[in-house]
Amino acid sequence: MDEERPALHRWLGSAALIGGVPLALLALLAVTGRAEAGPALFAMAGTALAALLLARRWLGNLSRLAAVLRRADAGEGAWPEPPSAPPLLPALAEVSEGVARLARSLAERGELLGRMRRADAAILESLPDPLLVLGADRAALRANAAARALFGARAAEAGPLAGDAAALMRHPALAGAVDRALAEGTRQAADIVLPVPVPRELAAQVIPLDPPLFDGGRLVVLLADRTRERAVERMRADFVANASHELRTPLASLMGFIETLRGPAKDDPEAQARFLGIMAEQSERMRRLIEDLLGLSRIELAEHQAPTERVPLAALARAEAEAMAPILASRHVELSLDLDEAAVAAPADAEQLAQVLRNLLENAVRHGQEGGEVKLCVARTGSPRPGVTMSVADDGPGIAREHIPRLTERFYRVDKARSRNAGGTGLGLAIVKHIVNRHRGQLHIESRPGEGATFKVWLPAE
Ligand SMILES: Nc1ncnc2c1ncn2[C@@H]1O[C@H](COP(=O)(O)OP(=O)(O)O)[C@@H](O)[C@H]1O
Ligand SMILES: [Mg+2]
Repeated sequence: MDEERPALHRWLGSAALIGGVPLALLALLAVTGRAEAGPALFAMAGTALAALLLARRWLGNLSRLAAVLRRADAGEGAWPEPPSAPPLLPALAEVSEGVARLARSLAERGELLGRMRRADAAILESLPDPLLVLGADRAALRANAAARALFGARAAEAGPLAGDAAALMRHPALAGAVDRALAEGTRQAADIVLPVPVPRELAAQVIPLDPPLFDGGRLVVLLADRTRERAVERMRADFVANASHELRTPLASLMGFIETLRGPAKDDPEAQARFLGIMAEQSERMRRLIEDLLGLSRIELAEHQAPTERVPLAALARAEAEAMAPILASRHVELSLDLDEAAVAAPADAEQLAQVLRNLLENAVRHGQEGGEVKLCVARTGSPRPGVTMSVADDGPGIAREHIPRLTERFYRVDKARSRNAGGTGLGLAIVKHIVNRHRGQLHIESRPGEGATFKVWLPAE
């Protein structure tokens, strides 16, 4: 029995309350001689004993009831059952049952509330967009996983608002939006550019909460990382500008020569022949550029459609190597082949893989050294997954490390003038990258200045 023992004074007090009046009446009867002393004393003893027992039982019941209330108040899930022995006072039994029911339903409601709160937190936590909850003092009370990722692990360790997050909250555009949201009670938007440590462009929505959250949250700041989107927009604009520029240059030169042929060189057959030669070269350059641009857009359109053929790479490589003969001869380059006949790329697109080889071989011959050596190698690999590789290595001037990650950008050339003179459009490696992506393959570029360059393409095999 964990029944609390009632304190002595309370016990005696309660017993006195219950038995006091009958005891006093019995004493009065005995004293005034209306009752005989013996039976009166006996009745008094009985009354006192009954009062003591009743008080003890009553206090015990009440203290259990108090315990039930205390536990319910503390929000504990478990509550004591109402006193097992029925209380002597029937009304108390009903109260005790009522309290037990109340405590049970309170506990259930408390648990439901806890579950809802956990569900809310889980939803916030897993939202893909970074989200912060701010208090009235603008300090961040909570930050979800995306926000912590945005601000780095450091911020997560040091609480929601540290490092980059603090810089973000001090950003004038965001601080202004927070002020307006608090003052006007309406949703505000702000565009933010964070220059350090990595340049980032964020679109922020500041949403006031009325009434505030239970933890004092007054504002929700929703951030959307627009860095990639803006970069894509800029790239698209750059691409149009670059393409127009690349086309305009040969066009301007053509128009210039036409003018000259009509005017000053009208009667100079020698100059005419020379100019027509240059004009043919310029139109050839425009043709190549347009062809590459169209090719690139075709490849881009099909990029999300997986290829379907099985392509034996050795045969493909031999065919492409043969087609290279004229330009190999013109640059006095020697091409050596190392082909694994069993290397088969699948699923693959033969025409596109030929295009990859053509671009890589052309680059090796054009950007490599005159009179140099180029190695074309086709092999199988087992790691990390079964696949095949095609690699083209030259012994040319190589490429400085800082250029390597950018080579596959459209129109990116280490040396623009040299590339143009070599007949390049600056789109070759962009095309290669898109084709490799469509094949779910990988392109590795290894090079050091003065030590040649190796372009290796990994492709999935059966
Ligand atoms: N084998 C190579 N050796 C040295 N530089 C290379 C080689 N291949 C490519 N590059 C560099 O990468 C740039 C981009 O190549 P690419 O996209 O094929 O354009 P293009 O060949 O038309 O200039 C080239 O301009 C050149 O600077
Ligand atoms: Mg090229």
